[in-house]
Amino acid sequence: MKETISISLKGIEGFLSLEEIAAHSKASVRLLGQLVSGTGPGSDFLGWLRLPENIAGQIARIEKVAKHLRSVSDTTVVVGIGGSYLGARAVIEALSHSFPGMVKEKKHKIIYAGHNVCEEYMGELLEVLDKCNYSVVVISKSGTTTEPAIAFRLLKNHMESRCGKSVAADRIIAITDAKKGALRSLADLNGYETFDIPDDVGGRFSVLTPVGMLPIAVAGFDIKEFAEGAKSAAAITRDNKDPQSNPALIYAVTRNLLLQAGKSIEVLVNFNPKLHYTAEWWKQLYGESEGKEGKGIFPASVDFTTDLHSLGQYIQEGQRILFETVLSVKSTGERIRIPAEKDDQDQLNYLAGKQLSEINKSAETGTVIAHNEGGVPVITINIPALNAYYLGQLMYFFEVACGISGYILDVNPFDQPGVEAYKKNMFALLNKPGYEEAGKKLKEKLK
Ligand code: PA5
Repeated sequence: MKETISISLKGIEGFLSLEEIAAHSKASVRLLGQLVSGTGPGSDFLGWLRLPENIAGQIARIEKVAKHLRSVSDTTVVVGIGGSYLGARAVIEALSHSFPGMVKEKKHKIIYAGHNVCEEYMGELLEVLDKCNYSVVVISKSGTTTEPAIAFRLLKNHMESRCGKSVAADRIIAITDAKKGALRSLADLNGYETFDIPDDVGGRFSVLTPVGMLPIAVAGFDIKEFAEGAKSAAAITRDNKDPQSNPALIYAVTRNLLLQAGKSIEVLVNFNPKLHYTAEWWKQLYGESEGKEGKGIFPASVDFTTDLHSLGQYIQEGQRILFETVLSVKSTGERIRIPAEKDDQDQLNYLAGKQLSEINKSAETGTVIAHNEGGVPVITINIPALNAYYLGQLMYFFEVACGISGYILDVNPFDQPGVEAYKKNMFALLNKPGYEEAGKKLKEKLK
């Protein structure tokens, strides 16, 4: 039988009482009920709750399209921003080799575009694409987001001028709204194969739709296992009204009690750089869901032990406004032991025979104790292993916890009104039709 991820509150004990957490978890079962029954804020966007089951019917088609892209190209460019790219990237980076370009085994490469408008990035991307045989998966729910739209226009032009319109049409897949948006019209006009993003699933909750699943499948990872993991997480979170055993309830409640105690920054910690993008995904999930109406915990992240030699100083001794959530992975597939050396010139013989993962675990345990003693509460999420199944569990767990946490904060976790502000100014500065007046005002301001 497979294990499940679990939450440990040992590093919280000096800061909050377990009784207090238990009492608030019990009281928050009502909020889980609101989420599941669709009676809370943002109830039009709760389709993600049922995705672990509902995606099953699409897996065969997703795998078929992934197989096609792998057969006609050696590289796929995933074009998207925010929720339209971070979930896929989190899973792909967590499961990929750390040196993907250098391993003998020829794997299909996944690279990304449309998540910035940096000219150098795009120039260098087009330069490498000149030399490879690529396909494109373009993802945008609205179909109108500027960054991916610009990247897609450039890539479409590049591909069509290299191999013609009909070959390009065979190698471009669009994932967007079923009816609305510029990307939908463009896809229909050019005859691209498409997948629909359900109306009731917001970008940052969409990893279990084709938005996340197609790129993960193209990268060669097991999307059935990923969905199975999410399904098992649904059983212990979404469907579990027991406040003592529901890790999503306990996590949501603990982080909010810490916020009330003045800890307004949560730092997601990993000791495996493959989890870097899991943290990027998590930051978007929580930042965009909770940071509104002057409320919310600021989500930050670190890669340890790397960042123990940079931000570690601040975490240990800076302003006492932080708490940490450690992603603690139990086992790794490697077996590297430190060799003994006769003369012990580097004075490491005390480690001889020890596995690297044991040293990393000691770094983790030592760090948690040190940070605890320095006034930093630590929540630990135990992950049995880094594979598709447990990533599915982890991501679905974080989504359910995010819904509950937003309700504890009394915000709508499923909208993102604040994202529009920068767009309006950018459009005004670029003379987008309809923004002429705003443009005049801004230019006055800038004089
Ligand atoms: O979570 C969200 O809704 C956002 O981060 C979106 O995913 C992001 O803004 C991209 O939007 P779209 O998919 O419409 O291009």
